[in-house]
Amino acid sequence: MQINIKKIEPADVKSEILAIALYQDESLPFAEITKGIRKEEFTGKSGQVSIIDSQGKTNFRKVLLYGLGESKEFNLDLLRRFGGTALRYAAGIKTTSLSISANIVEVNSSDAVQAICEGAILANYKPIQFKSKQDDYFELKEFDVISKENIAEYVNRASILANSQNYVREINENPANIATPQKLAEHAKNLAKQNKLDITILEKKDMEKLKMNAILGVNQGSPLPPVMAILEYNKGKMNLPLYAVIGKGITFDSGGISIKPAKGMQEMKYDKTGAVTTLGIAKAVSELKLPIRLVAVFTATENMPSGSAQKPGDIVTAYNGKTIEVLNTDAEGRLILSDTLSYIAKEKKPEVMIDLATLTGAMIVALGKYRIGLFSNDDTVSNALYGAGEKTFERVWRMPMDKEYSEMIKADFADIKNIGSEGGEAGSITAACFLKEFIGETKWAHLDIAGVDNIAERHAYLDKGASGIGVRLVCEALEKMAKK
Ligand code: BES
Ligand code: ZN
Ligand code: ZN
Repeated sequence: MQINIKKIEPADVKSEILAIALYQDESLPFAEITKGIRKEEFTGKSGQVSIIDSQGKTNFRKVLLYGLGESKEFNLDLLRRFGGTALRYAAGIKTTSLSISANIVEVNSSDAVQAICEGAILANYKPIQFKSKQDDYFELKEFDVISKENIAEYVNRASILANSQNYVREINENPANIATPQKLAEHAKNLAKQNKLDITILEKKDMEKLKMNAILGVNQGSPLPPVMAILEYNKGKMNLPLYAVIGKGITFDSGGISIKPAKGMQEMKYDKTGAVTTLGIAKAVSELKLPIRLVAVFTATENMPSGSAQKPGDIVTAYNGKTIEVLNTDAEGRLILSDTLSYIAKEKKPEVMIDLATLTGAMIVALGKYRIGLFSNDDTVSNALYGAGEKTFERVWRMPMDKEYSEMIKADFADIKNIGSEGGEAGSITAACFLKEFIGETKWAHLDIAGVDNIAERHAYLDKGASGIGVRLVCEALEKMAKK
């Protein structure tokens, strides 16, 4: 979507719709058209929308007033919602002429414009790729943003970040019959070509040679081979700090022999969210031209039951030599990540490694759908992610990893087991402790994105379906870490 920057006064806007955001105690602008509005009609409470026709008295035809609530409770996400609401209103009445004012009292213009543009671009995406009648859906091709300052850089940042998030949503919305592991590898190759990234693909035979038996064990029940894709940005620029992002790419999680109940199983097409998100991060980081080196990696496979599938009780030796007793084939994410994390830690030696995974249902029990579970062995990395979450509103909450939890994954017949003892108590933490066995000495953070990978009801700027969460969060954190 094209965003035009206009350095003009709101009163000079000639669009069909002008959108303005106001705090609860702000007086209404454009007296010539708003003087008849009673205070009760537009109180400015958070999220309130009022549309006023100017009846020819102003240059624009209608003004959309958006309530920001009390100024002391302001947060930037209100502006994402404002951008999303304005865009959806314009799309709803099928107009192509929208101007959004980024002049927000007491908010710096760069933050304001970035949040508004992110909200608008995110709201313009709808999960309609499989609808046969595309004409029923109206999309805006462009809009104007009004500001007094020089904001081009922040419009550009918003475009890169929100478009990368939409790219993740679109790929992730593909169900398992379309988004096979091979198809995800194709997406990685296309991105590498488009954005001039280096790429290495490990096929099944490579994994056999490298003894990635944990991945191969999960893959055993599927007729489709597994794949690991490794994208590299600024490869070889050794003066830049190296970061790695690693994603869980289960293209469908049936549970395997420890099969899941039928109800809701369709949602397990989103079990590849971590993987797709690493592609979105690689896209955004390379387009933002961040001064870092980045390795973006995912491992993709189905988790299926069949005559050849892995069985409860099976013991596999992972890439780093640790033996794992597979007591539940549905705890497969940690298995494929064990080989991936230990391989990347050893081969690439990144300064920091961040993994993203829809890892445990227990995460949803703990935090619901409003915060991502964060697990880390390093305070600096953890704080960077926390701060980034508050800014991007992809909020995280750090979880404990005391050694008692690691005790819970000690196995009877192997080094570790893939589920905790005590009947699933602290299930997200024992899963994170399992991953920790495979990172060596690397600084690391694990983001358990189960529960936030897709949304059941649309809100002001995200539709139902794949959320694309994590792209803005991790990019912001990487940028912050690189500056230190
Ligand atoms: N992909 C699931 C976790 C999940 C559940 C993601 C619900 C999103 C929504 C994961 O592979 C899984 O099945 N985990 C098991 C682990 C258990 C067997 C220890 C779980 O959470 O039940
Ligand atoms: Zn599972
Ligand atoms: Zn899974």
